[in-house]
Amino acid sequence: MGHSVDEITVFAPATVANLGLGFDILGLAVREPGDTVTARRVEGDEVVISAITGDDGKLPLEASRNTAGIAVIETLKAAGTTAGIEIELHKSMPLGSGLGSSAASAAAAALATNLLLGGPLRKQQLVTPCIEAEAAVAGRHADNVGPALLGGLLLIRSVEPLDIIRLPIPDGLTVVVVTPEYELLTRDARQALPDQVSLGDLVRNTANIAALVSACHSGDLSLMSRCVPDEVVTPRRAALIPGGPQVIAAALEAGALGSSISGSGPSIFALCHSPRCAEEVGGAMVEAFHQAEMQAVSVISPADCPGARPL
Ligand code: HSE
Repeated sequence: MGHSVDEITVFAPATVANLGLGFDILGLAVREPGDTVTARRVEGDEVVISAITGDDGKLPLEASRNTAGIAVIETLKAAGTTAGIEIELHKSMPLGSGLGSSAASAAAAALATNLLLGGPLRKQQLVTPCIEAEAAVAGRHADNVGPALLGGLLLIRSVEPLDIIRLPIPDGLTVVVVTPEYELLTRDARQALPDQVSLGDLVRNTANIAALVSACHSGDLSLMSRCVPDEVVTPRRAALIPGGPQVIAAALEAGALGSSISGSGPSIFALCHSPRCAEEVGGAMVEAFHQAEMQAVSVISPADCPGARPL
């Protein structure tokens, strides 16, 4: 346990959940964008959100209804303590964009709280408080909060009990994420999913996930490129995104190893073997969104980015 401080600012990155085929079980941190939380000790034992910027006034300031606020409350509980904590949340990614916006806020708030307390919990122990926060807005899954906190590419084998496995990332693997100006709430995108899957789909997805894990270990990018397609979640959600199927097709045509929906969308990601390839792929994806009359921005990032950290 380190020394406690009175004020701290923490950044947590956006994340690409699912990676296409790994619904609720795969997630990857990217370089940017991300959320920033400044937390300070105050008198008493209340958790207070004093300001939120970058959310167009959409998020509640009430701590018990806000992901960042819940993450603070749950982190205090996990540490077995109470404290007066005031936070400011600065968002730099759109809500409902499939970039793990709520998870980034939760991860930054949980880490800031832990550091204010002098670090009684290990970073891994902050995942569960963040899952509680995420559950309040986007469902009980750790494929965004895990990498937002811990960085890298993670396989969430189980949420309860929590079992997270870090996967190795092949050299040079680069991810491009393209975000259109369109809001799709995770809640709604989850409702588009089927209650049941066919045995054939189960077999295909199981085989692809096993092969993807193997490709991560061996660095076999050609194998990786055969694994990303998913017939269960992606087609239903792509239909909710204007230009979605065309953007995925444009990424593959421009040389991406794989492309699918980032989290619950509408952002679409592509995996590429190099930053240079990612530039071309990103351009083709933005253009495909334009064809569907959607403005879009692309962000390129190495696939092995760090998670939440103090600034
Ligand atoms: N795995 C979640 C989903 C991620 O696809 O609904 C949400 O960002």
